[in-house]
Amino acid sequence: MADDRNDAPAYPVGLRLSGRRVVVLGGGTVAQRRLPALVSAGADIVLVSPTATPSVEAMADAGELRWERRPYQDGDLADAWYALIATTDTAANAAASAEAEARRVWCVRSDDAEAATAWTPATGRSEGVTVAVLTGRDPRRSAAVRDAVVEGLRDGTLVAPRHRERTPGVALVGGGPGDPDLITVRGRRLLAEADVVIADRLGPRDLLDELPPHVEVIDAAKIPYGRFMAQEAINNALIEHARAGKAVVRLKGGDPFVFGRGMEEAEALAEAGIACTVVPGISSSISVPGAAGIPVTHRGVAHEFTVVSGHVAPEDPRSLVDWPALAKLRGTLVLLMAVERIGAIAASLVQHGRSADTPVAVIQEGTMAAQRRVDGTLATVAQVVADAEIRPPAVIVIGDVVTVGRAVQG
Ligand SMILES: C[S@@+](CC[C@H](N)C(=O)[O-])C[C@H]1O[C@@H](n2cnc3c(N)ncnc32)[C@H](O)[C@@H]1O
Repeated sequence: MADDRNDAPAYPVGLRLSGRRVVVLGGGTVAQRRLPALVSAGADIVLVSPTATPSVEAMADAGELRWERRPYQDGDLADAWYALIATTDTAANAAASAEAEARRVWCVRSDDAEAATAWTPATGRSEGVTVAVLTGRDPRRSAAVRDAVVEGLRDGTLVAPRHRERTPGVALVGGGPGDPDLITVRGRRLLAEADVVIADRLGPRDLLDELPPHVEVIDAAKIPYGRFMAQEAINNALIEHARAGKAVVRLKGGDPFVFGRGMEEAEALAEAGIACTVVPGISSSISVPGAAGIPVTHRGVAHEFTVVSGHVAPEDPRSLVDWPALAKLRGTLVLLMAVERIGAIAASLVQHGRSADTPVAVIQEGTMAAQRRVDGTLATVAQVVADAEIRPPAVIVIGDVVTVGRAVQG
């Protein structure tokens, strides 16, 4: 290629590789990094290399590419539309590069960007948008620009309105346990795009302060319910705002389907013919113990964990929980909504066979600035909770896992 063209900017293009032959020379870490995107693009990939990293080998085993276990030889690029040249043999790379030039196959070279006829941009994706950045000779800057754009699109700080008609509807978003950093990327983006947010008391309330002034934020607990039940009133509010053409986010604490009544809302919306997207969230049942240094499972200690609602006492006829059966389990019990009834619950577990010495931890306002933890046993927990004046929201963890993380619990 004539030298005077070397400083010209690269011409960006999106290759549609589905079903088209892509030849990859070399099965090392460069190939390992590039192959997943080629696989996602549906390319017909042939890897030519005597060796491969375990991850590349796994892709071959999974049938995502065909692997020819040998060095490059002239003619390998005969059927290729595109080639990635990344062997550790410079002479082979140069020969393959020359073959690519002769056959007019666009090729990237890991060892010599100047000799390549194509460059791989730093790429990222966010909800249907592919971001590809080329800065010529500064790949770290490309990656930094890519990160800034993708991050901005994801969290809504980069405002790029969709020009296709937005479908009004409701997103049931699990907001995580409370720390605003613990919502999912998708949840955060939907929040940034919402016209109306109906939020629970639990969850990442700090995020609501960041919303632009035109967004209507409604406290679910304050929706007047008159002749309806509170939940029905919330369902009606969701339906009403969605019918008015608004993008509605129903922001819930933790995960919408873990003691969150999320399915009742989804069913009401389906009945009303309103589109509903569910965005899972990080449930407090796992994340709150984790934030306090307690793993809900631990090798050699607990092979199961059971999440139980303590919102009705064991003797209450409305209870659907088989406490005698739970008392016989060896693993971890995680109780939500159980602060007020922990005395009765602990007594029931002991009565049905769980040792009174079983360790218990109670974590109030987990992941938030006010997080605090108190420890006891099944015999003492009710008193510990009373003495420490523990208030909801709190997660109660029962089992030997409570003591395993001591070294890292500070
Ligand atoms: C109605 S349930 C909702 C659970 C939620 N859907 C989830 O997946 O985490 C509410 C209970 O979750 C627990 N909880 C939620 N967030 C918490 C937090 N940050 N700290 C401690 N407990 C929390 C408490 O037991 C609280 O009473």
